[in-house]
Amino acid sequence: MNLAGKTVVITGAARGLGAAMAKRLAIAGSQLALVDMDRDALMSTAEECERAGSREVRTYKVNVAREAEVESLFDSVSADFGALHGLVNNAGITRDAFTVKFKDGEQVSKMTLDQWQAVIDVNLTGVFLCGREAAAKMINLKCQGCIINISSISRFGNMGQANYSAAKAGVEAMAVVWAKELARYGIRAASIAPGFIGTEMVMAIKPEARGKLTANIPAQRIGEPDEIAQTVQFIFENDYISGRCIDVDGGLRL
Ligand code: NAI
Repeated sequence: MNLAGKTVVITGAARGLGAAMAKRLAIAGSQLALVDMDRDALMSTAEECERAGSREVRTYKVNVAREAEVESLFDSVSADFGALHGLVNNAGITRDAFTVKFKDGEQVSKMTLDQWQAVIDVNLTGVFLCGREAAAKMINLKCQGCIINISSISRFGNMGQANYSAAKAGVEAMAVVWAKELARYGIRAASIAPGFIGTEMVMAIKPEARGKLTANIPAQRIGEPDEIAQTVQFIFENDYISGRCIDVDGGLRL
């Protein structure tokens, strides 16, 4: 798919990886529908995209975990642009905790149902809702396109992340399902599993812990947000990629 003039929705576009994707696709000439809950940060990403050359950028304040908001988001995108060719399911959160934690034989904590549910709602249900609505609009609008889910290296199972790991394994599987179900409409689906990338989510880790983390990465550094954005562009542009997950992690294995 040639991205010039194509309409792409990016969730979680206010900052971090989503903002980097938006800027890269703006340079490629895409029309952008940027989605986030943080309206102010979203506006500044949109301004940067305009400066970078995007033909049209619109912002939508939406919680991807709420069905009614997601349905009306895709109605608005369809009315505003008259087309939909791409979706990047990027919005995500963490609420890390050990499933159970014991000290000196006593249970000191456990992952709460709130911590579990918050991550499942945004990182798994949000991806399902946006993917479902995007696919329906692409088919109705007769637009061939591509859906990309942002998974994670944690999909293999990372300590302290039962909620996040389960959701990230789920979104990889969902991309495989969509690749099979939607191929008949000319819609592809794939996922990307980043390792540790230098966004607020990772830079919030204490410097000492971050140093240890970096030492385990064969590339000996944390990744750049644009290295994930580059992979998004590659998947959109290569029409023979579908149903696969691309790992972008500097060679790290958990
Ligand atoms: P970030 O925390 O910097 O940005 C996430 C964005 O999503 C924020 O702008 C936030 O407002 C938005 N968001 C959160 N909940 C939302 C909701 N319910 N509805 C709409 N927007 C919502 O995170 P970052 O690092 O840019 O991560 C982006 C994606 O990449 C996430 O799915 C994350 O799990 C994944 N990822 C990130 C890695 C990293 O090293 N930074 C590694 C592997 C995966």
